[in-house]
Amino acid sequence: RMSLPKITTGSKNLDTLLGGGIEVKTITELFGEFGSGKTQICHQLAVNVQLPPEKGGLSKRAIYIDTEGTFRWERIEAMARAIGMNPDEAMENILYVRAVNSDHQMAIAEELKEIIPKENIGLVVVDSITGHFRAEYPGRENLAVRQQKLNRHLHQLMSIAELFDVAVVVTNQVMARPDVFYGDPTVAIGGHVLYHAPGIRVQLKKSRGNRRIARVVDAPHLPESEAVFAITEAGIRD
Ligand code: GTP
Ligand code: MG
Repeated sequence: RMSLPKITTGSKNLDTLLGGGIEVKTITELFGEFGSGKTQICHQLAVNVQLPPEKGGLSKRAIYIDTEGTFRWERIEAMARAIGMNPDEAMENILYVRAVNSDHQMAIAEELKEIIPKENIGLVVVDSITGHFRAEYPGRENLAVRQQKLNRHLHQLMSIAELFDVAVVVTNQVMARPDVFYGDPTVAIGGHVLYHAPGIRVQLKKSRGNRRIARVVDAPHLPESEAVFAITEAGIRD
């Protein structure tokens, strides 16, 4: 497998699990229950993509598409400070977009083709990819339409990952007991939305205190193993 540039997560354990970090030209799906660390990892990556390659970044900027209103500039400041990065510069290098509904989210994704080459973007975050779709097309009776729209959105993001040297990271909240939602492929066993799309699926689980456990699912080129990481004041660490 060709070695692609990667962005460090801030945790050596997690980087090792991922074969070095979050890869460009690839969609990485972070899925797991509430509080499992999806949003915190996205914040950390938006900071770390700005690092020079020798420090685990791409010397590039990030676009953060926030669908849930959980993005926090203060968190970016703290994470930047913790690695000796100027917090104001770190914030200037993150293009924040709030997507108010699924149509808006897809319209933003369409615009990425113009924005990415102009703005020296190395990372696109969609946190979360599923929230609006689930809210607007609830229940099993809307499943087919929801999945169809979500697939179209995924294809937008896939073509962006393929066209440009950017990493695309999406999050997907799944319940701790996915069996309750058996039959819904967006929350079924495994729980991930990329289940028939190329990409890396990372399952996150809560452990004791600030500890979290990550596992890569369905990735033949990566070992079936787990990594333990922590969500600290400074950000994602071992
Ligand atoms: P949902 O979006 O609800 O599905 O959860 P998530 O997977 O995005 O979880 P998130 O990344 O928001 O993780 C939340 C956890 O991160 C909290 O339970 C805290 O333990 C930790 N956390 C969030 N903000 C801070 C912070 O400012 N400092 C520290 N030390 N920990 C934080
Ligand atoms: Mg979140």
